[in-house]
Amino acid sequence: MRTLIKNGTVVTASDISRADILIEDEKIIALEANCTSATDLTFDAAGKLVFPGAIDVHTHLDMPFGGTVTADDFTTGTVAAAAGGTTCIVDYAIQTPGKSLQDALDAWHKKADGKCAIDYGFHVAVTDLNDDVMAEMPALIENGYPSFKLFMAYKGVFQVDDATLLKILKQSGASGGLVLVHAENGDVIDVLTREMLAAGKTEPLYHALSRPPQAEEEAVNRFIIMAELSGAPAYIVHLSDAGALGRVAEARVRGLDIYAETCPQYLYLNIERYSEPGFNGAKYVMSPPLREEGNEDYLWSGLASGNLQVVASDHCSFNLKEQKEIGCDDFTKIPNGAPGIETRVQLLYAGGVNGGKISVNKFIDLVSTAPARLFGLYPRKGTIAVGSDADLVIFDSEADFKISAATQHQNVDYNPYEGFGGKGVPQKVFSRGRLVFDEGKYVGETGHGCFQRRSPFTGL
Ligand code: URP
Ligand code: ZN
Ligand code: ZN
Repeated sequence: MRTLIKNGTVVTASDISRADILIEDEKIIALEANCTSATDLTFDAAGKLVFPGAIDVHTHLDMPFGGTVTADDFTTGTVAAAAGGTTCIVDYAIQTPGKSLQDALDAWHKKADGKCAIDYGFHVAVTDLNDDVMAEMPALIENGYPSFKLFMAYKGVFQVDDATLLKILKQSGASGGLVLVHAENGDVIDVLTREMLAAGKTEPLYHALSRPPQAEEEAVNRFIIMAELSGAPAYIVHLSDAGALGRVAEARVRGLDIYAETCPQYLYLNIERYSEPGFNGAKYVMSPPLREEGNEDYLWSGLASGNLQVVASDHCSFNLKEQKEIGCDDFTKIPNGAPGIETRVQLLYAGGVNGGKISVNKFIDLVSTAPARLFGLYPRKGTIAVGSDADLVIFDSEADFKISAATQHQNVDYNPYEGFGGKGVPQKVFSRGRLVFDEGKYVGETGHGCFQRRSPFTGL
């Protein structure tokens, strides 16, 4: 089947041009100024931007965590992603202690295969290292899973020690993998948490106060030094703090292969949210926590300067009712995480491009091209080029949006950005040539999304 997207302004990470995009089945087969080929379907994108489908490399769907399971599964989560202009996600398959990494992947494939609206891949989170796990890593990289996640926090749950960090960095680096880290010092957090609980400080605000910026900065610094020692490329997920960003910037100046992502929550929300009335502060209990007002300016500068290369969502949704409420008397029991898979692209466009903080090309780089390059999906995904997958968004940069839990596709009972508005709406979203969202309506099919084997790490 041939599909034509005509008259649009095509935006990639490097160019802006007027072009018609000719698609055959799942692939882009031509980019022409004025395409006159016969087609089965034609979409007029006059006055609209056409950009590569966004890629969200940090999601948690159908994940057991904090005594419950995320509110979004692979169907609701990927439909919500598509609504927001995202056409590929990379989720985390988390190792159960005592089991293999392949067991984790088998479990996560079972959750996702046949259930996704858009394409998906997996990082592998290592929680329990032994010789067998080390031995598994090279083959996993070869087989399409070239990224490994480690947690320096969540003591007693996911946290690993420094020896594990170093060993995984060495093994991954030697085999073409990329190591991702949740960088917060879990031991420091554990001490502060106990002190707060002992003093009767149980409200959501104390989640933030028990995880100070220094706990993040110290872990980022330690991880960077381990990466330097091992010679391996490394990536810091959900970086939230100006001090931590300074460590990344310094490492990059020194020529180290260090990359970092931030998320919209750290660009738009701050610590005052924890003091919303009643138990509403629990909506924002995530790790790292929201920071002091003003911190976000440093993160925006980091995006503009290139010290932060990716904006991902860290979508990890729990309902306020019955899920976040597990911790109504004790902030340590509130499941950590917040929704954002649907709003990431629009928020970054509205605040970043319309707000004059980043160019439209930089915006595409942050949400699509750089994630594709770093995580082995480029040039199949992350750009608009002949031979690439026809993952495309027709984006109305003049249309208004207003975010509300009442109209979202995310399967959760609140939205952290309730009432936020701006200009820029994904009008039509195509996944491998197939229209999946049309004027706010899901027109796709569960199971259309395919697992994506990713290539070993080659840099940005
Ligand atoms: O609070 C968060 N970020 N929850 C999801 C798990 C993680 O740490 O990324
Ligand atoms: Zn994390
Ligand atoms: Zn996460």
